[in-house]
Amino acid sequence: MSKNLHVAIVGATGAVGIEMMRTLEKRKFPLGKLTLLASARSAGKSLPFLGNEVKVQELTEHSFEGVDVALFSAGGPISKKFAPFATQAGAVVVDNSSAFRMDADVPLVVPEVNGADVKGNRGIIANPNCTTAITLMALWPLHQAFGVTRVFASSYQAVSGTGAQAIEELEKQTREWAKSQRKWDDVRLASEHVSVYPHQIAFNALPHVDSFLDSGYTKEEMKMENEGRKIMHHPNFRASVTCVRVPVFRAHSVAVSAEFERPVSVEAAREVLGNSPGLDLVDDPTLKKYPLALDVAGRDNCAVGRIRKDCAFDNGLAFWVAGDQLLKGAALNAVQIAELL
Ligand code: A2P
Repeated sequence: MSKNLHVAIVGATGAVGIEMMRTLEKRKFPLGKLTLLASARSAGKSLPFLGNEVKVQELTEHSFEGVDVALFSAGGPISKKFAPFATQAGAVVVDNSSAFRMDADVPLVVPEVNGADVKGNRGIIANPNCTTAITLMALWPLHQAFGVTRVFASSYQAVSGTGAQAIEELEKQTREWAKSQRKWDDVRLASEHVSVYPHQIAFNALPHVDSFLDSGYTKEEMKMENEGRKIMHHPNFRASVTCVRVPVFRAHSVAVSAEFERPVSVEAAREVLGNSPGLDLVDDPTLKKYPLALDVAGRDNCAVGRIRKDCAFDNGLAFWVAGDQLLKGAALNAVQIAELL
């Protein structure tokens, strides 16, 4: 590949697409040309990039001529339809959707964990599920040190993981309630204010992320086990997860209980986690210091804290990990993969 790459962003106007542009800017990515692609609705709109305005173009099958790297974040169906056109045109696709993640010939990569897998790509590299990527930032170093066998986890997922419309919905519902000047015990809004999620998200917690499977888990919940196995090259890894959507705009948090093959101690875990790339150790509960969604929002690094011996396991640790899912869970991870190329 030439030194300065021609990068295309598919879904440039979306919550992740915008962060992809900011991440390219911030990391001084060796960019020759930037092409912004979205639906016909956005064609002609301009977005700021490095002090200039770049026009958004309508995504078509001919959008990829001369493109070296195509960062896709416009949903699974768009990736399925258009990624083949990008690879045929000679581009390497880094895909943020779940369309290709479990395909045997598609590497699924968190650079801090399995960056070397990028080498085996045949034109498409998949970006993992956001909750999985953030959890693995803490779980992988612990696995290397102690050998993880299984985890039980609950996620607290921000609305921006659903996209721009969900951000707007939480904003509108919150404003609607504030405007009405009703009290704390009267927060239920009329159904006309609920459209993105099946229930009101403001002042609520929805134990429903993605669609339900016959097993009773959601697809999102099973990604931790399925994608975790592939990324960590750990086919026996097991994960029982409950994913919850919470009224947080930005950054996912995950409560994890992990069981290990070998004995663990809090001190040893802190030592390992304190030296892990892309991860901050924020763990001083007596000073009320632990990872907060508000603190990791907009930051590249994930944060881990509340580290303690899990009282329900012999060799177990409980911890709390938080990360900006638009960044490590999506845009940053995709750009890091592009850098590996
Ligand atoms: P547009 O803004 O033109 O609808 P989010 O996940 O934040 O909702 O963003 C989704 C992204 O995917 C947006 O950039 C959106 O563009 C883009 N997108 C949605 N449908 C299409 C489509 N049919 N063709 C190209 N891009 C699309």
